[in-house]
Amino acid sequence: MQATITLTITTGKLAGKTYTFDQRTNFILGRSDDCDLSIPDEFYRRVSRYHCVLDINPPEIKIKDLGSLNGTYINKHKIGQRESNQAAKDTISSELPEYELKDGDEITLGDMVLRVTIENNVKVNSHDQNDQVALPKPNNYQPKLKPNNTETAKISNVAKTLIKLANEDNKNLALLCNYELIKLIGKNSFGEVYLVQHNQTRATAALKIMIPSVVEEESRIKKFAQEIENLQTLKHPHIVDILGYGYGEKVFFILMEYHKLGNVCNLMKQLGGKIPVPMALGIILQVLDGLNYAHSQEVPYIKLANGNVNKGKGLLHRNLKPDNILLSTINRKLVAKVSDHGLAKSFYIAGLSGQAVTKIKKDGEPLFIPRQQVLKFQECKPDVDVWASAACLYNMLTGCLPRDFGNEPWLDVLQNDPVPIRQRDDSIPTRLAEVIDLALVEKPHIHFQSAAAFKQALVESIT
Ligand SMILES: Nc1ncnc2c1ncn2[C@@H]1O[C@H](COP(=O)(O)OP(=O)(O)OP(=O)(O)O)[C@@H](O)[C@H]1O
Ligand SMILES: [Mg+2]
Repeated sequence: MQATITLTITTGKLAGKTYTFDQRTNFILGRSDDCDLSIPDEFYRRVSRYHCVLDINPPEIKIKDLGSLNGTYINKHKIGQRESNQAAKDTISSELPEYELKDGDEITLGDMVLRVTIENNVKVNSHDQNDQVALPKPNNYQPKLKPNNTETAKISNVAKTLIKLANEDNKNLALLCNYELIKLIGKNSFGEVYLVQHNQTRATAALKIMIPSVVEEESRIKKFAQEIENLQTLKHPHIVDILGYGYGEKVFFILMEYHKLGNVCNLMKQLGGKIPVPMALGIILQVLDGLNYAHSQEVPYIKLANGNVNKGKGLLHRNLKPDNILLSTINRKLVAKVSDHGLAKSFYIAGLSGQAVTKIKKDGEPLFIPRQQVLKFQECKPDVDVWASAACLYNMLTGCLPRDFGNEPWLDVLQNDPVPIRQRDDSIPTRLAEVIDLALVEKPHIHFQSAAAFKQALVESIT
């Protein structure tokens, strides 16, 4: 049985109403009718528009006040409130703290009280998954790469141990057998990416290691493994190819094609902070092709409306940002590929990341997400990726983010509308600017519903 969390309203008109969760989600409570729990004014008083947010990852649950006027209380102790002289729209001076909730805790916001019930009956993983892993195909012949001392010094013990055990015939790590770690490419909040080389075929690959920061649990591991398998079925010239994956020594490892030129952020830095219009458009049109394919492709594991998992159409990325657009050249032409399609969000939804969505920092994802993705997290449609692609284009052209951010990115996404692109840089051609601004419209819904529609509008704006 899975762990569940139930919230029960214990006061007022809605007393007795319950909400049960068996998977990771974030849940916003407030007066505004776009909250996950919208609390009507006529039933409960003293609730702010966006009052507090819960990060639910059964059996764990955390809460954070969103700078409410009257505060959020746990068992009658106040855990957060905005300063009395501060307006809801004002930038909050520091990141708001987050609190862990226990079974039986009572949350009070205004006149409403909710009781938290946690049922934990989870099975802890007793054996490693994925005994069978496919070996990657060798790519073009490469010379043997020699890591130097500075590069090897940056390699973590986790990566070294994985490769060592793989070469000692650990069958869960068979995929990594005969690979050598060449250098660390980069890190993120749940793992690391390395350049690796096969010592027989000389094929190079990128090895992504994702380290769950919560207790090993079979259902979570299976759920995330299914998401990687979904991603592995995507084969498209503008989506980074997954060569294989596995789970062993309590970490996930994914081998994917290596992109020597790095990502769009690296290119922006090399070009002085911005990318010229033709090049940026060339990149984003390819990204839109990749997204369009992923959004319509059949994949093996999709959660259906009835809760069952079966094959279904369309895989969302939900974390498209310049760092996840990788570049290479083919016949001296710049080729862009979407990477990590769905990975970070699936890791989060499977409950494997300890990083709460409520604590995402500026180097994380809220910078390129529409408000729909914050508010209706589980109900996202392809349009959230289309919005993110417009945000990436905006960023490439101006070096700026579409909306202004202060210290509390959560509230900023909900309250700050995107700034028209020509206010950032008035050299952007007018028709192109109009299409980008349109693509960033979020209210009442995202303007372009599909990647194909946005692509067509962009092409028309420059012809
Ligand atoms: N296949 C790859 N080829 C070359 N570089 C890669 C590859 N995959 C990732 N990288 C680079 O490795 C670094 C770390 O990537 P990683 O995906 O872990 O972080 P991220 O993209 O910032 O976060 P996220 O987990 O949200 O995707 C980034 O600079 C990224 O561009
Ligand atoms: Mg990435």
